[in-house]
Amino acid sequence: MNQDDMKRAAAKAALKKILPQLDEKSVVGVGTGSTANYFIEELATVRDLFDGAVASSEESARRLKEAGVPVYDLNGTGTLEFYVDGADEANGNLHLIKGGGAALTREKIVAASSRRFICIIDHSKRVDVLGDFPLPVEVIPMARSYVAREIVKLGGDPVFREGVTTDNGNIILDVHNLRILDPVTLEEALNHLTGVVTNGLFARRPADLLIVGTPQGVEEITAPA
Ligand code: A5P
Repeated sequence: MNQDDMKRAAAKAALKKILPQLDEKSVVGVGTGSTANYFIEELATVRDLFDGAVASSEESARRLKEAGVPVYDLNGTGTLEFYVDGADEANGNLHLIKGGGAALTREKIVAASSRRFICIIDHSKRVDVLGDFPLPVEVIPMARSYVAREIVKLGGDPVFREGVTTDNGNIILDVHNLRILDPVTLEEALNHLTGVVTNGLFARRPADLLIVGTPQGVEEITAPA
């Protein structure tokens, strides 16, 4: 099984999980990235069994529409029952690093607005300690240098992601060389820097269920009580 097969297997398992609870009024939160794209393909196969979706990026919205799934504005839907999205890293507490695709802010908004966040990954994303994957931070453009200096004071090594503008018109700093032993505290510290829109740590609101595609099959992990 290659990495794509494992991502697809996780996406299929997520659909199987939510399917019994979908009805003609259901609006599903949909994430961004290659694993989320497999989930969009799966959702399209049951198009008649739910109402539509909220997308965490312009790219996912485009893919959903192309697949015949109506896309709604989150402001009109109220709380969503499910949000399904990938991640760049996940630890055993279901804390995540996200934002490799620069969609972190909208992803965090949809996650916050959803009762259940199901994270789908292949096993290469499962780690004991977060931080090998550079942590994305979305920043208002004029604050770029200031925020970068403050991140250095916090022990990180920020690198400007050249040529990338987020869906919200901002820039991304990727923070290297972190070993994130306390994800909640770091998430809060970064969010408190003036000029930061959000950061890619999903620890204050972790996933509720992690579905991991492995060479042996799909594994489900819930956070320890
Ligand atoms: C998008 O901004 C990210 O948060 C993605 O969820 C993450 O990068 C995972 O992407 P893949 O599924 O492509 O690995």
